[in-house]
Amino acid sequence: MSKIILTGDRPTGRLHVGHYVGSLRRRVELQNSGMFDKIYIMIADAQALTDNAENPEKVRQNIVEVALDYLSCGLDPAKSTLFIQSQLPELCELSFYYMNLVTVSRLQRNPTVKAEIQMRNFEASIPVGFFTYPISQAADITAFKATTVPVGEDQLPMIEQTKEIVRKFNSVYGDTLVEPEVLLPDNKACLRLPGIDGKAKMSKSLNNCIYLSDTEEDVRKKVMSMFTDPNHLQVSDPGRVEGNPVFIYLDAFCKDDMFAEYLPDYANLDELKAHYTRGGLGDVKVKKFLNNVLQEELAPIRARRKEWEKQIPAVYDILKEGSRVAREAASQTLDDVKKSMKINYFEDNALITEQAQKYQNV
Ligand code: TRP
Repeated sequence: MSKIILTGDRPTGRLHVGHYVGSLRRRVELQNSGMFDKIYIMIADAQALTDNAENPEKVRQNIVEVALDYLSCGLDPAKSTLFIQSQLPELCELSFYYMNLVTVSRLQRNPTVKAEIQMRNFEASIPVGFFTYPISQAADITAFKATTVPVGEDQLPMIEQTKEIVRKFNSVYGDTLVEPEVLLPDNKACLRLPGIDGKAKMSKSLNNCIYLSDTEEDVRKKVMSMFTDPNHLQVSDPGRVEGNPVFIYLDAFCKDDMFAEYLPDYANLDELKAHYTRGGLGDVKVKKFLNNVLQEELAPIRARRKEWEKQIPAVYDILKEGSRVAREAASQTLDDVKKSMKINYFEDNALITEQAQKYQNV
């Protein structure tokens, strides 16, 4: 069986380092591993509209931002198909048929939907489109017969819902769709990188993100303002590394060889943590190190972005061509689905003959 990746992001803002360690970095590795037959990366504008219906301009503006972030991280249009969700009407058609296979109560139990309803104060006024977006996400994934979905932990319930829809579809209509596997980051710190204020989630509205497109100076300022252990007041005080954003970021980003370069008094992160825990290591020193670590990872991304920013029409061309290629794949799956559901009437000669015989006009 071919190995196929499908994943994507909502274009509601520039991508941040949480997206990067949670999924983006992995996607680039998977792309370059050569282990996958097809890789589809989707800008989920239609999904973004499910809770931004009154703000379409935000979505419209951010499509190119997300595309620039993708390209600058190293997603390569020669190896991965980058496309825009709304340009594939087949996804809507698939969603429409899948809707018959999912109950309202099952959607209400979807933990991501539940949490988002709370976060957005939707309560009873939840838009139907938003409520049903897990179904549309199942369409996104299954349209490409994706086997592998590299995403952050928050997307787990979506993949679970997709698997259920696949199993239900296949049991009702016969083997047609492929059950996807989720691929989570292997490092715990990458599962959910906190904001620089220590809040569990990085979010634009909380103003606690480090963006991939931030300048060197922005990154430095944000790192130096990061929350640490609130009880670590004096350098000599023992500090806590658990739940300490600065150390969580180091867990996500730092490699041993970076110590030799930027902090040669320590061989690795364990030694640095031990000193911090013991007392005698100041926050500023750790933050300066984190800044160097982050800058090393972000500098090449920033440089590639600068290049792509000079070729915006070419970026749209990449998305256009990607959308064309992706649409062909989705259209093939839709044909398979319609055939399994036996709603491909005009290609179904047996049906035509059967009906003709019933009326004895053959
Ligand atoms: N829900 C994802 C997010 O909020 C975006 C997305 C839409 C997606 N469809 C998808 C991710 C299919 C993986 C697979 O970022």
